[in-house]
Amino acid sequence: MLKGRSLIEPGNFSLEETDSLFAIAEKIETDQRYLRDSCRGKLLATLFFEPSTRTRLSFEAAMLRLGGSYIGFADPGSSSAAKGESLADTVRMAASYADAVVMRSPKEGSALLASRYSDVPVINAGDGGHHHPTQTLTDLLTIRRLHGDIKNLTVGFCGDLRFGRTVHSLAKALARYDNISMVFISPEELAIPEYITRHLQKNAVAFTETRSLEESMPKLDVLYMTRVQRERFFNEEDYIRLKDTYVLNKEKMALGKNNLIVLHPLPRVNEIAVEIDDDPRAAYFKQAKYGMYIRMALLSSVLGAV
Ligand code: NCD
Repeated sequence: MLKGRSLIEPGNFSLEETDSLFAIAEKIETDQRYLRDSCRGKLLATLFFEPSTRTRLSFEAAMLRLGGSYIGFADPGSSSAAKGESLADTVRMAASYADAVVMRSPKEGSALLASRYSDVPVINAGDGGHHHPTQTLTDLLTIRRLHGDIKNLTVGFCGDLRFGRTVHSLAKALARYDNISMVFISPEELAIPEYITRHLQKNAVAFTETRSLEESMPKLDVLYMTRVQRERFFNEEDYIRLKDTYVLNKEKMALGKNNLIVLHPLPRVNEIAVEIDDDPRAAYFKQAKYGMYIRMALLSSVLGAV
């Protein structure tokens, strides 16, 4: 049912379609042979105009594990974008070689634009400070696996909520589930954008905004930490002033529930002390692994292999 479809933002797939991806990912997790060769002969293009480790490697690993192959670039300096080629032309070309295109760009709206020039599915792997829907699928799958379901939860988002695209996508996506309330924890300058809070109000989702991580800790079932997005700042001084506003350490973790889960899209800079990594509530490395399973589920679905 997802064959041939692009994914630009989480709302492009219905809740039922999203559930079908979770079911496939969970099957892959328990049976590593499931779908192993389902994409044999298929080619994925990975166009990364912005740095990435997890997202690009997990897409490439996913495609290889499905029996397919990939082409692409991780450094726009080595592509014709450096010669001034337009995104539309680069995408048209990639779409004529490959069966699906994954792209990341520093410009908001670029994935949507690319999808208009492509005959094959385009998957948005991050467009500037806008959206990152496959990270959201990863986050939702992790919540579902570790909390059993995606409902009746209080989810805290902490850090750079203004520029963090993973926050924007996840908040919008969670608004579709039952009885989710949100706590947005940030300095005022990095507050959650109004277009997201308006969306939550329209959908009658309960949320609060605060500066205090300590006061929020006891209420949370999920804590979603994020780094301050240096590359989207207009000046270095503001970045330096704001970068260490929140550091999750043992003292703060002691205020959290026993069944709290701590997520982070990664990379982390300073916002989670390494002393937390051994706490059973730290779920960010598990989350990275779920990212590969859900991308396998997504690729096999849009390529019509499942
Ligand atoms: C995130 C991104 O690129 O938006 N990383 C990722 O894809 N896992 C988060 C970030 O860079 O801070």
